[in-house]
Amino acid sequence: MTAASPDVTPRDRIIVALDLPSVAVADKLVWQLGDSITFYKIGYQLGYAGGLSFAQDLIKSGKKVFFDLKLHDIGNTVNKGVESIVNSGATFLTVHAYPQTMKAALDAARGSKLKILAVTILTSYNDTDVTEAGYVGNARDQVKRKSEQACALGIDGIVCSAEESEMLRPIVGPTRLLVTPGIRPAGAESGDQKRIMTPAAAVRAGSDYLVVGRPITGVADPKAAADAIVQEVAEATQS
Ligand code: C5P
Repeated sequence: MTAASPDVTPRDRIIVALDLPSVAVADKLVWQLGDSITFYKIGYQLGYAGGLSFAQDLIKSGKKVFFDLKLHDIGNTVNKGVESIVNSGATFLTVHAYPQTMKAALDAARGSKLKILAVTILTSYNDTDVTEAGYVGNARDQVKRKSEQACALGIDGIVCSAEESEMLRPIVGPTRLLVTPGIRPAGAESGDQKRIMTPAAAVRAGSDYLVVGRPITGVADPKAAADAIVQEVAEATQS
């Protein structure tokens, strides 16, 4: 399956999740990773600990930033929230894939460089978790339904498991982005993630961007881990 962004280099397809307790710890990791990584994701943990301003430092130093804030609220609140972030220089922002939420975010981001990504079903959810949460159908059905709604509203990209990338490409079309967390190199701990894939399999399935946290941030040599993942992606892109 072809990704929407075949020209993006293997290195630029990897987004490291800075799920870390402080700006000091994050800054040290970014320094350790150096030129190996160009794209960073800031979510709840670092975002609430100074990460939103740290993003400005990353952007000034030439890195790209993904705000994984997973917004979901009444439309007016989402719209005003996105207005506050639209000119931050961030590249991606996530919202949950509910129609009112997506529409409010897209309205606020229209005409800007900020791309809105819709989070379908979290990669830590399997079919049992989806049923427990009250959804009808399995995880795959829900990812498909939510992606169809997101596309109808004009979303820029979908966050899903790489297990769903191949199914989604014909639904989202050739240019929308598929951004996939739940990436685990062979032998890595899955942790709380349930719908996982290796970096090579994710690229072959058509994912544009791979979000990787603990397999890089939680190991003794993060730079070696990042370089190995970039290499695996490069080989999968060529094959
Ligand atoms: O450490 P790990 O590689 O599991 O990190 C995955 C990151 O991607 C986390 O920051 C998590 O919040 C995020 N994420 C996810 N599943 C989604 C959306 C975001 O795991 N569906």
